[in-house]
Amino acid sequence: MGTGGLTDMNKLLGGLERLPALPATAARAISLLSQGNSSAAEIERIFRADEGLAAATLRRANSASYANGSKRSFGLKESIARLGNRVLMRLALEQQASNTMRDGGKSYGLERGALWRSSLGGAAVAEKLAQESGQADPDLCFSAALLRDIGKLAVDTLSHGERAVSWNSGADRPFVDVERDRFGADHAQIGAFLAEKWSMPQEIVLAVRHHHQPPESPTSWICDIVHCADCIARWAGLGIGDDGMCHPLSPRARDAVGIHRERVEALAAYALEFVNTIERDLQQGAHQHQQQRKSA
Ligand SMILES: [Fe+2]
Repeated sequence: MGTGGLTDMNKLLGGLERLPALPATAARAISLLSQGNSSAAEIERIFRADEGLAAATLRRANSASYANGSKRSFGLKESIARLGNRVLMRLALEQQASNTMRDGGKSYGLERGALWRSSLGGAAVAEKLAQESGQADPDLCFSAALLRDIGKLAVDTLSHGERAVSWNSGADRPFVDVERDRFGADHAQIGAFLAEKWSMPQEIVLAVRHHHQPPESPTSWICDIVHCADCIARWAGLGIGDDGMCHPLSPRARDAVGIHRERVEALAAYALEFVNTIERDLQQGAHQHQQQRKSA
């Protein structure tokens, strides 16, 4: 199967009873945010209906405002207008993709939550690399890295419970090649297909598709950054399954992004800290939500 191969991908995934999907709120928000002419009122309505999402939006807009020395605080409507579509898309994913991804990666031998933690850790690193390079949008890199392994959700179903460890012939080669032999497509290609179905921007679709093998020509900052972030998340110990370390780092992308040992150590520590903070926030949000429901 080629890297595009829409018809083949439809054939491959057509037999699945259900394709992996984002929660309805996130799917609706992202679909609206991807359209240039989305209605601000409708975006506000969707964000307001989800407490976690509304709180995260307020937090983000107000912390940026305080960081700039302003003492003003913004309400939801103004926060949405100030943050812009890429940040809002990132917040919707950060708040809601955990529900979709938490159970993913079983066929790779990952425990519950491991795929989500790896996705978050890679996203944090990608955001940081984008900020430091000044060459790509940090929120777009965050979202792309967060979604990079969504194809593994479909592979879980395609493999019918068979573990990835049994797909390999034993030869030392990139694991995406093993997946292509086994299924006709690898999890990055399948993930890009899903990202397209979820109305993600093309830059994100491309970065998901190439997160293990960034294109050599023309090169792309977002693809290079997401690829390096993926490797660093694994070196931090996140998301290591049956495919283990069989995803080599592209030397060209490594040099373009400026990856070296000291930087990897700092980024790996940052990724772990970020994952723990978000997990704590999400748990607190869920707890508060439960308490509110009880007292309602
Ligand atoms: Fe991957």
